[in-house]
Amino acid sequence: MQIIDGKAVSIQVKQEIAAEVEKMVAAGQKRPHLAAILVGHDGGSETYVANKVKSCAECGFKSTLIRFEDDITEQELLDKVQELNNDPDVDGFIVQLPLPKHMNEQKITEAIDYRKDVDGFHPINVGRMSIGLPCFVSATPNGILELLKRYDIETKGKKCVVLGRSNIVGKPMANLLMQKAYPGDCTVTVCHSHTANIKEECLQADIIVAALGKPGFVTADMVKPGAVIIDVGTTRVPDATRKSGFRLSGDVDFANVAEKCSFITPVPGGVGPMSICSLM
Ligand code: GUN
Repeated sequence: MQIIDGKAVSIQVKQEIAAEVEKMVAAGQKRPHLAAILVGHDGGSETYVANKVKSCAECGFKSTLIRFEDDITEQELLDKVQELNNDPDVDGFIVQLPLPKHMNEQKITEAIDYRKDVDGFHPINVGRMSIGLPCFVSATPNGILELLKRYDIETKGKKCVVLGRSNIVGKPMANLLMQKAYPGDCTVTVCHSHTANIKEECLQADIIVAALGKPGFVTADMVKPGAVIIDVGTTRVPDATRKSGFRLSGDVDFANVAEKCSFITPVPGGVGPMSICSLM
């Protein structure tokens, strides 16, 4: 069994991006500028956005963090989106999700100019991705493809089970893995809360991508010997032994599944760091 070291790969990818950026700037091109909008004080979102800003610095990007309290109106947020759409210095931007309940996330997402939608959430980018056209691709599935590539993992003709059907991970992941490409050319099954016999589906899989947000859901009895296991779960579970009061738990029972599989991503240090470097 080999552990897929997403942390190490992400450091390497960011160094590659930084070298490319310095070449661009030396050639007289503009330094890339990423802006991020954060509404409210959700703990997970604060951490993600802080890591995105830190990664921008590591890659030599300019970054701008725009913060709003969670009582901002939807119109005020739409106005800021429009301002960033029209700002020629901003190359791309993200609106960190989730947004407060009184906002329509889909309306905000669709207000972003798809040419600046580096999250790849705008329907134009989702549509282009699904038919294999150049576009911005959701960062987490894209980071997983990069890991499969960098570990030289065969995907052609493999049976892949994606657990979870979210717009951010499950759906784009399934779509990308079925594309005529490497990594891709998989036969993909998407399982969700209404799937009958998830265990039987998983036992058929050469590759499992677990993105359900259910700690320890994938147990050793669900895994075919030699399968590749990609764990997207990052649920915060209470842990009194940690200074923060919590630890991150993946969707896979790592200790027992690791013994059975060929490759596995740990949590933390697997998919998480790749999502951010993929956004860069
Ligand atoms: N919330 C959780 N993941 C993401 C992401 O990739 N982008 C944004 N904007 N919000 C998120």
